[in-house]
Amino acid sequence: MTEHTRIATQPIAGQKPGTSGLRKKTRVFMQPGYLENFVQSIWNGIGGIRGRTLVVGGDGRFFNESAIQTILKMAAASGAAKVIVGQNGFLSTPAASNLIRMRKADGGVILSASHNPGGPDEDFGIKYNIANGGPAPEGITQAIFEATETIDSYDIWEGPDADLSALGERDFGGMALEIVDPVDAYAALMEQLFDFDAIRALLAGGFRIRFDAMHAITGPYATEILENRLGAPRGSVVNAVPSPDFGGGHPDPNPVWAKDLMDAMHGPDAPDFGAASDGDGDRNMIVGRGAYVTPSDSLAVLAANAHLAPGYAGGLKGVARSMPTSCAVDRVAEARGMDCYATPTGWKFFGNLLDAGMATLCGEESAGTGSDHVREKDGLWAVLLWLNILAVKKQSVAEVMADHWAEFGRTYYSRHDYEAIDSDVANRLVDDLRAELGGLPGWTHDGLVIESAEDFSYTDPVDGSVAAKQGLQIRFEGGARVVMRLSGTGTEGATLRVYLERFDPQDFGQDPQAALAPVIAAADVLAGISKRTGRTGPDVIT
Ligand code: G6P
Ligand code: ZN
Repeated sequence: MTEHTRIATQPIAGQKPGTSGLRKKTRVFMQPGYLENFVQSIWNGIGGIRGRTLVVGGDGRFFNESAIQTILKMAAASGAAKVIVGQNGFLSTPAASNLIRMRKADGGVILSASHNPGGPDEDFGIKYNIANGGPAPEGITQAIFEATETIDSYDIWEGPDADLSALGERDFGGMALEIVDPVDAYAALMEQLFDFDAIRALLAGGFRIRFDAMHAITGPYATEILENRLGAPRGSVVNAVPSPDFGGGHPDPNPVWAKDLMDAMHGPDAPDFGAASDGDGDRNMIVGRGAYVTPSDSLAVLAANAHLAPGYAGGLKGVARSMPTSCAVDRVAEARGMDCYATPTGWKFFGNLLDAGMATLCGEESAGTGSDHVREKDGLWAVLLWLNILAVKKQSVAEVMADHWAEFGRTYYSRHDYEAIDSDVANRLVDDLRAELGGLPGWTHDGLVIESAEDFSYTDPVDGSVAAKQGLQIRFEGGARVVMRLSGTGTEGATLRVYLERFDPQDFGQDPQAALAPVIAAADVLAGISKRTGRTGPDVIT
């Protein structure tokens, strides 16, 4: 008989999951009882885990293994039938989603703060995914949050730590614990979706790639798939060994944080194709020789060409984007007669559309693209779909982009982030602009005329649930747009995100910041950003 202990506790303030689970400074999670309270609240919020099977894994950041040991002991104490864990506690977020689906688990717990830096003084995170493999929808995260507010005890098995390195199944505190290779099942899924022979032939023909794993979880996945299975030369995957602090870096695949890759792709000996992924492997960045592809454009290109890959040869059922993502994909959908949905920020909002077969491909401006193969966005998947398309079209990235714009027009796009601003200032800025929305149509600035202004609210077409206050959306005549919202993933103060776009049907060669200059100026006048924040410009431009 295994001994389980019930430990008295009290609610801890602030355990409200954000855009993607609970994210805090690692030291916050390391406080006695903090993780335990939240984990017990997950169990309580989902109606208990007795007899259930869960998948558990994380991106290998500092505190990953220690958190997994606690979760396993708490799962055992609460009567879980089985927990499946990636070897050494590693699972990329898309691989975890795949395992939940493939093994018909009841859900999963993923440890990650995604693209945020890792380490004792950096960030940590935990989120719960449901049986479809996707992030828990609002109703469940709300129930978990409510459980954090009333918790008075948690259950834990006080046995020895599990050996997470030894593959196979064993008993752990009365529960079955199975350690699996984190890459195998995921790589097999990729082989089903893509034409590996065509990609292998492309690479064998001298097409050079550079994949930057940013010292994070995709290292082992990319090495196995791109180098071992597809034959890219050794060294094509760089920064391939996951480290607990991501080599001291910021594992966010964008031109700012993946500067090394950008430099390599714009240098004299640039490879043909560059890509990077984030801390937990769900984001991607695509860059050709001298040609950065924005996430919004990438989604549009993938939507227009996915049928060239075997997994999507039958065509797409529809596409979806988060509301702040550019409207480039809408133009593809319209031309191809596909349904196109705009959802609030957060991958969880795509789950119902994917489950209901209303959308096949989804994407977000925040470097996320994915499909109905799992229920998370998927960095390596996007890279492989791009490679499959390039292999079939026999074109460079720049040529694909040029053809795409020639057919659909170009949607210039950029996001300006104002980070760590005072939360009160940020909230007031958004509240004041929200209050003015009704009077904005007709407002003009520098030749731009506001056509409509709304506080974005989303009614899920499948279950009718409503998500209100999801960002301020201001459209100008001629297809320009400004969206403003506060980030739901930051851990310090508030981050104001300003999303800017302008459609141009014929002039494709401009610098995006120059093309967007009037829209940028209008946004500042409308919201008084520089005046209120005291900032002369954004901290990060992507
Ligand atoms: C995470 C979520 C995405 C979301 C992104 C940005 O990566 O998985 O769905 O787009 O965060 O969220 P934020 O609230 O910081 O803009
Ligand atoms: Zn991520």
